[in-house]
Amino acid sequence: MSGARIIDGKAVAAQVRADLKGKVEALKAAHGFTPGLAVVLVGEDPASQVYVRNKGQQTKEVGMNSIEHKLPAETSEADLLALVDALNKDPAINGILVQLPLPKHVNAEKVLNSIDPDKDVDGFHPVNVGRLWVGERALVPCTPTGSLILAKSVQESLSGMDAVIIGRSNIVGKPMAALLLRENCTVTVAHSRTRDIQSVVKLADLVVAAVGIAEFVKGDWIKPGAIVIDVGINRVEVPGGKAKLKGDVAYEEAAAVASAITPVPGGVGPMTIACLLKNTLQAAQMQRGIEVTA
Ligand code: GUN
Repeated sequence: MSGARIIDGKAVAAQVRADLKGKVEALKAAHGFTPGLAVVLVGEDPASQVYVRNKGQQTKEVGMNSIEHKLPAETSEADLLALVDALNKDPAINGILVQLPLPKHVNAEKVLNSIDPDKDVDGFHPVNVGRLWVGERALVPCTPTGSLILAKSVQESLSGMDAVIIGRSNIVGKPMAALLLRENCTVTVAHSRTRDIQSVVKLADLVVAAVGIAEFVKGDWIKPGAIVIDVGINRVEVPGGKAKLKGDVAYEEAAAVASAITPVPGGVGPMTIACLLKNTLQAAQMQRGIEVTA
C-alpha cells in the first residue's frame, strides 16, 4: 500500500519546458536572437541515439535552435577537438553537449575539458564544478538540478533538513551535495564503503539515491515521512518477458513509509532534458550579458 505522494516528473518537466518556451519568446522579442544548442554524437550507441533525438525535438519545442553533429565511431580525437573548438567560437551556438559514452580511443576528459565553460550545458567542466562549490553562478549538471526541482515541488524550503545522498559520482552525487548545501540542508554523502549504510539513510528527511543498483535501498531504510528522490534507471531482465526499468529504491516498500517519492520511469528521467534546455537559455543570457531568467 502506497501512502506516499507520487512525484510526477513528467508533469513537472512539462511545466519547466512551458516556462522556458515563454522565456525564449521574451528573449527573441527583446533581443532578436534565438539560443542554439549543439549536440555532438560520435558512433551509433542506440541509447545515445534515442537521447539525442529527444533532446533535438524538445529543444525545438521550446523555440531554440538544435544543431546536431553526428560523427562516425572512427572519428579521431583531433577531429573532435577541432569541432568543439569551432563550436566554442561560433556565436550562434550557446550550449555544447558531447554525448557520452565516447568511443574508447577518445580521451573523454580531454574533450569535455576543451568545451568553453560558458557553453558547458552539462556542467561537467572543472570551472563549473568550482563555480558551483564556491557559490558563483555556474552551469550545474542537469540530473541533480532536476532532482532538486522535484524535491522542492514537494516542500519549497529544504532548509535544515537532514539529506542523505547515496552515490558520489561527479555527474550526480557530488553536485547534488553542493546544491543541497546551498539549500541549507545538512548533507551526508554515502557510498559503497559507507559502514552500516541503512542506519545512515534512516536518519534522512530527504534521500537521493544515485548508486546504479536496482532496488538497492529497501523500504525499512527509510525514515517515516521522508522525501525520496530516485535517480536510478536500471534495466532488469524479466524471465521470459521484456526488460523492465527499476530505480535504485525498492519502490513499493519505500512508498509505504515515505511522504513523497519519485517513480521510475516518470520521475527524475524526464527532468534531465528539461534542465539541459534551462541551462542552454541560462548560458545564452550569460553570454549576451542579459539578466538570467532561466
Ligand atoms: N549520456 C547519458 N547521459 C548523459 C548526459 O547527461 N550528458 C552527456 N553528455 N552524455 C550523457
